[in-house]
Amino acid sequence: MPCHMTKLEAARAFERRAAARIPAADRPGFHLTPPVGWMNDPNGFCFYHGAYHLFFQYYPYDTVWGPMHWGHATSADLLHWTYLPCALAPDTDADAAGCFSGSAAPLPDGRLLLMYTGVQPAGADGRQAQMQCIAVGDGLDFEKDPQNPVIPAGLLPEGFGTADFRDPKVWRENGAYYCVAACRHAQDQGSILLFESPDARRWQFVTVLDSSRDRLGKMWECPDFFALGDTRVLLISPQEVCADENGELHPGDATAALLGRYDPVTHAFDRRKVQAVDDGLDFYAPQTALAPDGRRILIGWMQCWATTGQAPRPHPWYGRMSLPRELFLRDGRLCQRPVREIETLWQAETRLAGITVEARTALPGIRGRSLDLNVTVDADASPACRRFALRFAEGGGLFAEIRCDLALGELVFDRSRCGSRRDIPHTRRVRAVPHSGKLTLRLILDKDCAELFVNDGERVLSVLVDAPETAQGISFAAFGGPVRLDVVQHELRA
Ligand code: FRU
Repeated sequence: MPCHMTKLEAARAFERRAAARIPAADRPGFHLTPPVGWMNDPNGFCFYHGAYHLFFQYYPYDTVWGPMHWGHATSADLLHWTYLPCALAPDTDADAAGCFSGSAAPLPDGRLLLMYTGVQPAGADGRQAQMQCIAVGDGLDFEKDPQNPVIPAGLLPEGFGTADFRDPKVWRENGAYYCVAACRHAQDQGSILLFESPDARRWQFVTVLDSSRDRLGKMWECPDFFALGDTRVLLISPQEVCADENGELHPGDATAALLGRYDPVTHAFDRRKVQAVDDGLDFYAPQTALAPDGRRILIGWMQCWATTGQAPRPHPWYGRMSLPRELFLRDGRLCQRPVREIETLWQAETRLAGITVEARTALPGIRGRSLDLNVTVDADASPACRRFALRFAEGGGLFAEIRCDLALGELVFDRSRCGSRRDIPHTRRVRAVPHSGKLTLRLILDKDCAELFVNDGERVLSVLVDAPETAQGISFAAFGGPVRLDVVQHELRA
């Protein structure tokens, strides 16, 4: 780094040069990737001055995790992103070891507030300290507050420490600012703390909104807290989850929605239900933004910590965001649909209604790796069919497979035959029961990104598939007896 440059200027100069050398064809068509280097969690997702802004955990100089910066991109339609210069670099005493995850909120004076975790280098006890910081700017350049950290160790209640205290999600409500942040409690483990401020600078602790009580993972990361109708949703990314008897959450690092009621006067959150957000092999740390039309949009890191260490790195960038999704509640469950803007990418349509399949077969016109594919399995009209399988990314002996056991009401997403040489999880099993005799699968493919929405968003699985882009085949098979299907495919323009 030339000695006259700040860390931020150096990152901006580096990413500009390096990103210009990466051809668009080396990236997915409509999933955001970093300009160069490493990306993890979405940060600061918001609608500000007429555009969506998305920041992200970012290390421009390598394709592995390093001292965290905040990368930055904007979009008018949540599908086509324009890179803006790196927004934050770890360049003050309060964040010298990294600018960890956080969020954004437009201020009444028209500026944009960023709230993030400043990580301070390890002290004599060998542990880094994590505290909450703010920066304010015009949507391009941000100035860190000289009083950072604005939520220091001294504001933590008894039993909580700064070794794991991070990921503030800030919002404005009734003229005040609130923020939820994740913190580890000595006994209760993962917990979400609520703070309040009149001006986003002077904060005070309000309450512990919820905690694992050592049952729902060890540490909770990346909280989000918002209303969806009468329901209050607390999103968390719990670490070291042990799957429970009903198998709602998978073991390891998961994503969960805690649904309940919130009393804005007492600030009590009454959790009534726990469910998975995304059951895929590659999804973590989701965050939401409120769209101007009232939609609550969720986006996640389409990757996960368990597999990143062993991932192939064919490009000078690594990590990507999921497709943004609209959240809604149906029968008390948090469901997701791809943002409706995806329809603007629709091209050639192929419709096959009421077809019957038994032996493995390809269907005319159904193939590709940039697709919005809808398959309706008519279970009532397929009484002998026990199992149905859909293969995609098929070619050269490789494929990914979705298997639905109609009798058991179970779906398995299996990428073990995609050419991976890594000893990592390759399958995921979820409950998937036909509704009114029908099971619907919506599969969005964007090169190596696959996102499956089961039963109109009741379950979602985000998975990366290694099979090369030349593997374009899609085929269908039924076991036990024939299956009746409706298939609608739209090719997607990148
Ligand atoms: C989640 C996370 C956050 C942290 C960030 C660091 O993936 O571990 O808790 O702020 O990543 O990059």
